[in-house]
Formats: sequence, C-alpha cells, structure tokens
Amino acid sequence: MTEPDIKKGLAGVVVDTTAISKVNPETNSLLYRGYPVQELAATQPFEAVAYLLWNGELPDAEQLAELRATERAHRALADEVKAVIDLIPVSAHPMDEVRTAVSAIGASDPNAGGSVLNAGGSPAENLERSIRLFAALPAIVAYGQRRRRGEEPIAPRDDLDYSANFLWMTFGAEPDAVVVDAFNRSMILYAEHSFNASTFTARVITSTLSDLYSAVVGAIGALKGPLHGGANEAVLHIFDEIGDASNVKSWLDTALAEKRKIMGFGHRVYKRGDSRVPTMKAALDTLVEHYGRHDVAELYDALESEFVARKGIYPNLDYPSGPAYNLIGFDTLTFTPLFVAARVTGWTAHVIEQAGANALIRPLSHYDGVDERHIAR
Ligand code: SDX
Repeated sequence: MTEPDIKKGLAGVVVDTTAISKVNPETNSLLYRGYPVQELAATQPFEAVAYLLWNGELPDAEQLAELRATERAHRALADEVKAVIDLIPVSAHPMDEVRTAVSAIGASDPNAGGSVLNAGGSPAENLERSIRLFAALPAIVAYGQRRRRGEEPIAPRDDLDYSANFLWMTFGAEPDAVVVDAFNRSMILYAEHSFNASTFTARVITSTLSDLYSAVVGAIGALKGPLHGGANEAVLHIFDEIGDASNVKSWLDTALAEKRKIMGFGHRVYKRGDSRVPTMKAALDTLVEHYGRHDVAELYDALESEFVARKGIYPNLDYPSGPAYNLIGFDTLTFTPLFVAARVTGWTAHVIEQAGANALIRPLSHYDGVDERHIAR
C-alpha cells in the first residue's frame, strides 16, 4: 500500500477559503478585506478595523459612532466575572484568567447556543456577542494586571476611545498621544492573520455548530503556546536574559548550542520577514524616543542582526511588540492577553464566516500503530 502524503502541521495545506484577510508570503503582504494592514494601522482607530473585519467594509461616521457607543456600553467588567477571576490564584498565568473570564461571560449568556437544544446565534446575534467580547477584554486584561500588582481596579472612562481607555484602566493615568497611537497600531497589526493556529482552532470548534464563546475559549488556549501568541512574552524573557547588546553574541552561542527556539523569530507562512514588522518596529521606535530607552533599541537591533546573519530567520510581529508593551509599562505576563484583546476581532469574524459554511472540519489520519489483534480466549 502506498504511503499517504501526510502534511504534518498542515504546513502548506489550503483547507478552505476566507474573505477576511489575505496573507501573501510572495509579496510579503497582508490585506484585511482588501486593505493593506500598513494603511489601516497608519490611518484608522482599532474600532474601525474591528468593524471592517466583521462587516467587510470600513464604517462611515455614523456606523463608527454606533460601534463606539455599543463598545462603551459594555466596557465595565460585570461583578460576576470579577468574582470568577478572583477565584483564580494570582500565581496562575493571565491567559488562564482571560480564558476563564470569557468562559464565564459565555456561560451567563442564556442564548449562547451551541447545543442540540439551541444551535447557536444568528450572524447578527453573533456579531453582537463579538462586540461584547471586544468591549470586555480590555477590562479583563487591565483587571488581571492590577490584581496581580495588588492595585485596585479602575473603572472605564466614556470620554476615551478604545485604546486610550485600555491604557487608562490598566495604568490609571491619562495616556500620552504617542503611546495611544503606538498601542492602537499594535492592536490593528495583531487583529487578524488568516488560518493561524488559534483562528483555525476557533473555526474547528465552530464547524461542529458549537457556540462563539466556546470557539474563543479554544482559540485562547491555542494562542497561549510560545510557538504562537506566547512568543511576545517570551521575547521579553530573552531580553531579560541577555541584559544588554554587548551580551548578544555570547548569549546566542549558548542558545543555539542548546538548540533553543529564539522567540519572536521565524514564521510558518512568511519566510522572508513578517509583513507587519516594519510598521510595529516604527511604533516601537516612537516609544524608544518617547521614553528615552535607546538601550532597548540597541539590544533589539543587535539580536536581530546577529540572528539573521547566523540563521537567515527573520523577526515576526511578536519581536517588536514585546519591547513595545514593556516600554508602555505592561507586565510581561500581560503581553499575550493583549494579543487576545486584539485577535478576538479576527477570531470572531472567522467564527461568523465558518458558521455560515455549515461544514464540519474533520481531517483523516494514517494509522501506524500495531496490527489488528484479538484478546486470547
Ligand atoms: C505567531 O501563523 C501565524 O500567522 C501566527 C502569527 C499570527 O499572527 O497569528 O503570525 C503569530 O504565532 C508568530 C510566531 C510566534 N512564534 C515564535 O516566535 C516562536 C519561535 N518561532 C519558531 O518556533 C518557528 O519559527 C515557528 C513555529 C513560528 C514556525 O516554525 P515552522 O514554520 O514550523 O518552521 P520550523 O519550526 O520547521 O523551522 C524550520 C527550521 C528548523 O530548523 P531544523 O530543525 O530544520 O534544523 O528553522 C528553525 C527550526 O529549528 N527555526 C528556528 C526558529 N524558527 C525556525 N530556530 C531557532 N529559533 C527560531 N525562532
């Protein structure tokens, strides 16, 4: 019997179509509903990009105002969600906290659906749920960081847009426009990336007609891993290990001798650099100037140039994002929850698209275990 053509990790396998984004490694480009992500990051508030991913078009002024009003109305963390988070030890990883909080929100939605008794929401109902998670996640992430620091939670402010309010709830200070802009760009760049591991997880869960919240909880579980979303946190652990630029060569000698994966570098799809990195690096550069932290830029540049020279493997989005979030003041453990807050827009756009396909995702496997045998009588 001929061996099947197995594609481990589904590398290079096209499993379905999507109209949400186009990742093109040949041109090193990324389009959200046809728009280059660089143009969106330079001109749009994150709320408008969320609207684009869900609805296929950028919002006009009235549609943006309506989305902003709905987002503001659902920003505050519900007491029952706070109570669930407070049951989790502060020593737990914040991704476990975020995953549990989303699950609690889903469990308190009587019409979440996803069961034989209630097959799940209509596209309009699921869009509403998507906006509610989009609105709730900043408060969940901010609450978690402040809880771990022993700080009191900060209520959202209706006079601030999404990114400024996120920073306000986390740090309790009026954020500087430079910082808001860099943060806003990071959220847009993290929002969507076709069938990455966490998005595909959400689509598999949705393909069984399960509910939107279950799909997002599953996606959070996938994103936590250091080969995926957890890499932005891992980049800072690496920076802390290296210390300063003068240690890069010796650190890399040891790390490569130990066959370690250098987090923040490499990509399953992009092989000559991640299309999002130049935009995020420019945002990092504005933060380096703003905070006067040229030491960070020196370490960043030294590690990138040395690793690229040795292995020909290029940075991915997590490499500039980690130091950027560190300069803004987020705890390292908060970085991947920030990725969740951004990617929930892409995930839920794919959930709505997959639900419409109504097609169960169930690949085959090639058995290589023991031959058939029978219990001795
Ligand atoms: C994200 O898919 C997406 O779009 C994801 C994402 C999104 O927006 O959703 O872009 C977000 O997850 C970005 C990736 C974040 N992960 C990391 O930074 C972790 C470090 N990177 C590697 O683990 C790796 O590059 C992957 C997992 C990202 C991609 O791996 P591939 O495509 O499966 O390639 P591979 O692991 O088979 O590597 C090929 C070779 C191997 O060497 P050999 O075993 O053949 O000798 O390159 C080496 C690898 O060891 N390699 C690395 C490396 N990346 C690849 N070696 C050291 N450090 C690295 N970072």
